[in-house]
Amino acid sequence: MLRCPRCRGELSIAEPPTRLVCRSCSQLYPIAEGVPRLAGESYVASFGRQWNRYDVMRPEEDEATFRVKTGVDPRDLSGRLVLDAGCGGGRYARLIAAHGARVIGVDLSTAVDKAAALCAEFSDALIVQADLLDLPVVAGVFDLVYSIGVLHHTPDPRGAFAQIARRVKPGGRLSVWLYRRNTPPQEWLNSALRAATTRLPATVLEPICAAMSLLGDIPVLNRTLNKIANFSSHPDRVLRVCDNFDWYAPQYQSHHSLDELKRWFVDEGFGEVAELPPAKAGRLYDWTYRHNLIIGSGVNVTGVRVGSEQS
Ligand SMILES: C[S@@+](CC[C@H](N)C(=O)[O-])C[C@H]1O[C@@H](n2cnc3c(N)ncnc32)[C@H](O)[C@@H]1O
Repeated sequence: MLRCPRCRGELSIAEPPTRLVCRSCSQLYPIAEGVPRLAGESYVASFGRQWNRYDVMRPEEDEATFRVKTGVDPRDLSGRLVLDAGCGGGRYARLIAAHGARVIGVDLSTAVDKAAALCAEFSDALIVQADLLDLPVVAGVFDLVYSIGVLHHTPDPRGAFAQIARRVKPGGRLSVWLYRRNTPPQEWLNSALRAATTRLPATVLEPICAAMSLLGDIPVLNRTLNKIANFSSHPDRVLRVCDNFDWYAPQYQSHHSLDELKRWFVDEGFGEVAELPPAKAGRLYDWTYRHNLIIGSGVNVTGVRVGSEQS
């Protein structure tokens, strides 16, 4: 399933089995802690830190989130081949592996160490450190490819979308969740804040994110102040700190419209393209969501790759 990032040749396990070797160009790639390392960490160091530091796996919540953000019932994935594009600490890869899926989780950061540990008990789960922008995974074979909150953290979200879209087999499904573009004043303020926070060392930013997590406990602020500047209102404090760091630390963070994401699907040859609605409901929530006022909310689309399985 894996290909040489340098020449696209097939990879096999070398002797001793702590490395992969390319059958075409003989390039060697280490396997460390059970994880093939086909790329270095590059610009995603904050993610390696955050996913290894915070334990965010919450099985019930993860299952509900997976259903909402992929439009797929994990129970339907038994025996299916699935690509988790940007698996982070591996909470969703583990979930679907537990439901019998054959899953490859790809991430560029050292979060793969956490993901591999979470998935260790499942022999059909493989975690790989690799770059979605030059994805060293065979094309056109996956029953499902999903990417939850990832592509907007790359320097080229459209290019990364094309890479993962081409891994879906004809008749297979792709589901993608990206940050929603908010109103111009919100976008402007967020860019100004992040221009400062992304320059801070993690050791300084983390206590700030921990302090901000206290705001998330105050219901009135959750409905007012966080329409101006983002902070997490998750009921669990560990997740609030992690969410805040996840927002203010990463080097890249782009925001997108629903039409833009739907167009990407169509342009890459997908049909049955449909918006996946958010988990939250209610008239006020719907109104603010549709008017792009909820910072940190998403645009979420699914589609089926056109073509028969034989093609
Ligand atoms: C917000 S996290 C989401 C992780 C996971 N999908 C989840 O929801 O728990 C974004 C992830 O994208 C990964 N990422 C960013 N750019 C990437 C790239 N070019 N290739 C692979 N992974 C990338 C980061 O390392 C990070 O773990």
